[in-house]
Amino acid sequence: MLPRIKRSLGKLLPQIWMSPQSTYNAEPIVEEYASDTKLQKPEQTILSLVTETIKTGRMLDIGVGAGRTTHHFAPLAREYIGIDYADNMLRTCYRKFHPLPSNISFIHCDARDLSIFGDAYFDFVLASYNCFDGLSHSDRIKIFKEIKRTCKIGALVSFSSHNLLFIDNYFKINWWLERANLESTNSLNFLYRLYCYGWVLALNDSREHLSDNDYVMMHDGTHNFSHKLYYITPRKQIEQLAELGFNNTRIFSLDGNEIESGGELSRARDCWLYYLCTTG
Ligand SMILES: C[S@@+](CC[C@H](N)C(=O)[O-])C[C@H]1O[C@@H](n2cnc3c(N)ncnc32)[C@H](O)[C@@H]1O
Repeated sequence: MLPRIKRSLGKLLPQIWMSPQSTYNAEPIVEEYASDTKLQKPEQTILSLVTETIKTGRMLDIGVGAGRTTHHFAPLAREYIGIDYADNMLRTCYRKFHPLPSNISFIHCDARDLSIFGDAYFDFVLASYNCFDGLSHSDRIKIFKEIKRTCKIGALVSFSSHNLLFIDNYFKINWWLERANLESTNSLNFLYRLYCYGWVLALNDSREHLSDNDYVMMHDGTHNFSHKLYYITPRKQIEQLAELGFNNTRIFSLDGNEIESGGELSRARDCWLYYLCTTG
């Protein structure tokens, strides 16, 4: 009884003490990811663009989670390796895809250190659904460097990241209420969204201060505020990639369409964006 009361009370407070790794190991979070099996629209676009590459090549799926993307990419790839640092996510993958076909494997691995893989091994690397946005800026750079090292020259790399041009919404009460309205008219949901709005104001710097940067870490309410997430402008993301040796960057919005670089970039207001680039 007492643990149940404690758990319920715990939900009334933001879980800001949790690390991203413990969040992704938590049972309700694993279940939430396990129940989602569909590709997002930009991922469908990217799948069509990389199909020829993975048919004859090796693919690394970083932060594979509960295997949402495995359903769609693995059957097409000559070799598919999913890695994650959350044991419970990997356990779900083993269960879901048992018995594992010979071209698929799942490995417990922190993407900040890919030393289990040699240089120039992969033809395509995917890191879907903002999977390294929970990490600090320096850890993010470490991961990009590891991706670069383990990829062949000219390999394709795709990942998504939260869009700094979206964050104004979190500071508008109407946005939270409209969101509640879209999800369900249940009054508890309205209360929950008001709670989110309040904690966004309480836990973050002001909107003006955050928007003044090219990238920030902020609490946006995801997983009950368990950890901050990285938000970056698309322009800065392209620059960051170029500095690290990734080229030909293309950007896809949540409707699956490509965003042209130029004026359209500064108007991109999706919560997160997908990037596709090449190494070398
Ligand atoms: C938002 S979930 C996305 C899961 C999956 N990619 C999907 O699209 O459904 C992020 C996943 O990345 C994993 N992850 C985050 N940082 C990681 C790291 N440094 N190394 C390995 N996995 C990581 C988490 O454990 C979690 O399973």
